[in-house]
Amino acid sequence: MSPIGLAVIGAGYWGPNLVRTARATGEFRLEWLCDLDLGRAQRVLDPYTSVRATASYEHVLADPAVAAVAVATPAATHFDLVRAALEAGKHVLVEKPLTATVAEGEKLAALAHQCGLVVMCDHTYCYTPVVRRIRDLIRSGEIGDIQFVDSVRVNLGLFQPDVDVLWDLAPHDLSILDFVLPDGVMPVAVAAHAADPVGTGRACLAYLSLWLSTGVLAHVTVNWLSPTKIRTTVIGGSRRTIVWDDMSPQTRLMVHDRGVDLMQADSLAPDERRQALISYRTGDISVPALPEHEALMSVMAEFAGAITERRAPMTDVGAGLRVLTMLDAASRSADQGGIRVPLQMEASR
Ligand SMILES: NC(=O)c1ccc[n+]([C@@H]2O[C@H](COP(=O)([O-])OP(=O)(O)OC[C@H]3O[C@@H](n4cnc5c(N)ncnc54)[C@H](O)[C@@H]3O)[C@@H](O)[C@H]2O)c1
Repeated sequence: MSPIGLAVIGAGYWGPNLVRTARATGEFRLEWLCDLDLGRAQRVLDPYTSVRATASYEHVLADPAVAAVAVATPAATHFDLVRAALEAGKHVLVEKPLTATVAEGEKLAALAHQCGLVVMCDHTYCYTPVVRRIRDLIRSGEIGDIQFVDSVRVNLGLFQPDVDVLWDLAPHDLSILDFVLPDGVMPVAVAAHAADPVGTGRACLAYLSLWLSTGVLAHVTVNWLSPTKIRTTVIGGSRRTIVWDDMSPQTRLMVHDRGVDLMQADSLAPDERRQALISYRTGDISVPALPEHEALMSVMAEFAGAITERRAPMTDVGAGLRVLTMLDAASRSADQGGIRVPLQMEASR
């Protein structure tokens, strides 16, 4: 099968990663790199490449050799760019977050459905070996019932001109949560607190609490002001607890047979009932071996697979919309002092 003609839109921080991975996969033939700043697009490409640089999105969409576009521009531009691509009959890979508002995301979902074209959201972490393994550990029942989720994503971050820390970093944690939770389990409400202690005009740290349909509480911390980079997620289960430390390549993922069991009162002798009903498990810690491969290569493979097999991609427009719904509710909560905002999300994944 001949490679799919692709254009990458946006040659800023992230776009060059899409350029590199698209060129490394045989499933795509990169035709264009488009950026409003033509010089920036030209600098990303080597001088002897056949890939063309342009500042004109219209030229890209008019080119019949282009069957798909990958959009890596600021979130506020996603709606117009994705809509134009779909109207021109192109498949789309769009960076997180899907759009800047839920209403825009819903319009794109409807349009994608109407056109029968692929719209895939680049929820990159869902394509990492570690997140795939976490998903398997949860869905196979190995960790038991989820009791809590605690995710921390902090570093000295790039201040984004158009989004706050919530919309910049939390899409990662929310897309991971959306991906790993068992079918039918989903967030039903969110509360968030956010702050801007240095007066940048937008929140640079935020704390999100999400209540799951099982009653479990999940928590996400995001922060652009931390001098140290921390990327940890702990998912406590009734049988095992997952500890993912993305900054520790040797022990990126650990599965602890450690935790707390609650003994049934009627299983105790009367004279024992006065004693605590809590018992501590201090079992083994295992470190699953993970394959080494770049998540973005898997993103590209999934995008190509969805196009050629005419199927929904793993992180489809619905996944993008669910993340958007959580972000939007979290922003509304933060704006209103942290009130609990109910979430209305489709049940099936
Ligand atoms: N998946 C990930 O892990 C990941 C990581 C970083 C950023 N991102 C996402 O990638 C997107 C881009 O982020 P970034 O940090 O690269 O931004 P950036 O500001 O560094 O680059 C954006 C580029 O888009 C260009 N641009 C803006 N509007 C355009 C238009 N209408 N047509 C063509 N070019 C246009 C700008 O000139 C700029 O060069 C965002 O949605 C961001 O959330 C994803």
